[in-house]
Amino acid sequence: MFRSYLLSSASVSLLFASLSSSVRAIQPSAPDPVAAPLRDLKWGQINFLHTTDTHGWLAGHLQEPSYSADWGDYVSFASRMREKAESVGSDLLVIDTGDRVEGNGLYDSSEPKGIYVSEILREQHIDLISSGNHELYKQSTSEAEFYTTVANFRDNYLASNIDIFHPVLKVFVPLAPRFKKFTTKQQGIRIMAFGFLFNFNKNNNNTVVRSVQKTIKEEWFQDAIRDKGVDLFVVIGHAPVRSIEFHDIFWEIRSIRWDTPIQFFGGHHHIRDYVHFDSKAYGLASGRFMETIGFMSINGVSNATHRIPPILAAPHFNRKYIDNNLLSFYHHTGLNEETFPTEHGTNVSLLIQDSRSALQLDEVLGCAPRDLWMSRVKYPADDSIYTWLEKEVLPVSLGDDSRAGKPALAIVNTGAIRFDIFKGPFTQDTTYIVSPFTSGFRYVKDIPYKKASFVGEVLNKLPGILIQNHQLDFPAWRLAPPEQSAYTDDISGDIGGRSRAGFLANQATFLSSGFDEPDLIPGYTTKDDAGTDGDDTIHSRIPFYRVPNCIQALAPSDPNSTPETVDLVYVDFIESDVAMAATFAGLHVDFSRDSDVYMPSTTLTTLISDWVKKNWPCNEG
Ligand SMILES: *[C@@H]1O[C@H](CO)[C@@H](O)[C@H](O)[C@H]1NC(C)=O
Ligand SMILES: *[C@@H]1O[C@H](CO)[C@@H](O)[C@H](O)[C@H]1NC(C)=O
Ligand SMILES: *[C@@H]1O[C@H](CO)[C@@H](O)[C@H](O)[C@H]1NC(C)=O
Repeated sequence: MFRSYLLSSASVSLLFASLSSSVRAIQPSAPDPVAAPLRDLKWGQINFLHTTDTHGWLAGHLQEPSYSADWGDYVSFASRMREKAESVGSDLLVIDTGDRVEGNGLYDSSEPKGIYVSEILREQHIDLISSGNHELYKQSTSEAEFYTTVANFRDNYLASNIDIFHPVLKVFVPLAPRFKKFTTKQQGIRIMAFGFLFNFNKNNNNTVVRSVQKTIKEEWFQDAIRDKGVDLFVVIGHAPVRSIEFHDIFWEIRSIRWDTPIQFFGGHHHIRDYVHFDSKAYGLASGRFMETIGFMSINGVSNATHRIPPILAAPHFNRKYIDNNLLSFYHHTGLNEETFPTEHGTNVSLLIQDSRSALQLDEVLGCAPRDLWMSRVKYPADDSIYTWLEKEVLPVSLGDDSRAGKPALAIVNTGAIRFDIFKGPFTQDTTYIVSPFTSGFRYVKDIPYKKASFVGEVLNKLPGILIQNHQLDFPAWRLAPPEQSAYTDDISGDIGGRSRAGFLANQATFLSSGFDEPDLIPGYTTKDDAGTDGDDTIHSRIPFYRVPNCIQALAPSDPNSTPETVDLVYVDFIESDVAMAATFAGLHVDFSRDSDVYMPSTTLTTLISDWVKKNWPCNEG
């Protein structure tokens, strides 16, 4: 696996890791990380580690070496980084901005869901933590959040704009405190922190998400930003760093505190991104699925005893996106495989291993004969996961006993698929990774084929129709995978004065590092408001192609003829979107009256795993 690199840029520090074969993540089936050139971190008086949108991936990526460290390794990393900071009198804070649930077998396959994940998660010391939208879709999820994660991180969990209906008291109460003021241990920096969720409205009615714009006018917020003893505002939240919400929070604070540094931490779009609000305010988004540990440092901040006069104050902000693997962790801590792991971190890795084995996540259901990609290839294509679903899986898997002999046209939103499939074993875990949502299917019967297929076409035109709407949760954001929203988002505040096209390039920019591309491992090549040196690991570019909002499949499929009428089948999660599109398509159907469950007890998840069991045997070759 060893690769050599031609050094042609002196500005980056290189790691030529000693590639002893024993370098490995602690999950037994995780692949060894591969040595790659690394950029150094720039430390400051105050430093942060940030995760977001982990979606249950606490075991790390078992098929991708670049992201193969687990939550236990991260526990070791955070404590080693804290030791390093404190040895020179600096601070280190650990942040998580939500969507910790749904998206991985470790979360989704337990009954009740999440019982293992919440136990593993709590082992990390997290200084500031907030809720995402996924914590609030279901009553059971938000109540579990309230009783476990909010309780486990008492004093550090912030919910500036979320209330929950208290299951015992039967009244709405704040999910967690609205804000927190504290002083850092080493530098004595006085921080005022908030924890927001974007203006989400698909939550269950047992929670209330107050609009950010109204919340920032509330008395407690107005008082908090008028507090004279604040050296740094830290706004964490589950919202894109380029969003109306963060934009408005920024201006509300700035209107009162023209000079105080502000650091935002966001997420939701599943991308790496860094935004310049002004010379003293920046925002960091740290990817998804435990692929990225965001690093942020700030220098030149005042404290109670050491005031930097406003006119001289020029705080320096630095960001890096750390690939979640042991070689990166060793490099940034200056440690090695003997000196890096802490006993606590090793225990957490063992806890993950035990949890995975209790859930039988390594049970092999079949073997994928090839890689199937969501956005790395154009759609349609033989190696597109959507083409595979549309042409191979759905046509032979759809069918309701009570509708025998009736053809079906199924509409599946592309966002229902959350991850690529890699050639090789397709496990119980893979099932949840690829399709974590518990949505079943519904249908309306006997719809003229032409109109039914027009519904799908309308759904695929949705962003064009609704982009004018200035709604932050408009359907296209829910229909397509979230990574794509960053590429179509044209509605939120253009804070840094950059053109939209300028930042879209998460995985789609070219390196300017002088490295020979073919020698590099494919991975993140981020371009953000600070340039192209954000990724700690220098990678070659991975292409990113747009996919439609929805795909359609006819069952049974017959290339030579189309039926007169079909059952219009859809994933129940998108019923309101299908109903709206049906109106545009001239279909006068009352979905609340005329629709019914299709294939009871089958979900997209079980449909895919059943197909894999039948069609992808492991015994070939
Ligand atoms: C305030 O900052 C100065 C300069 O960094 C430092 O020497 C001092 O110890 C800090 N004060 C407190 C109370 O931590
Ligand atoms: C939520 O909606 C259900 C069904 O409409 C209702 O019975 C319940 O009381 C509502 N819950 C709250 C907290 O308002
Ligand atoms: C790690 O686990 C061992 C065995 O259960 C236990 O004795 C030890 O106290 C744990 N250490 C830490 C730091 O959690």
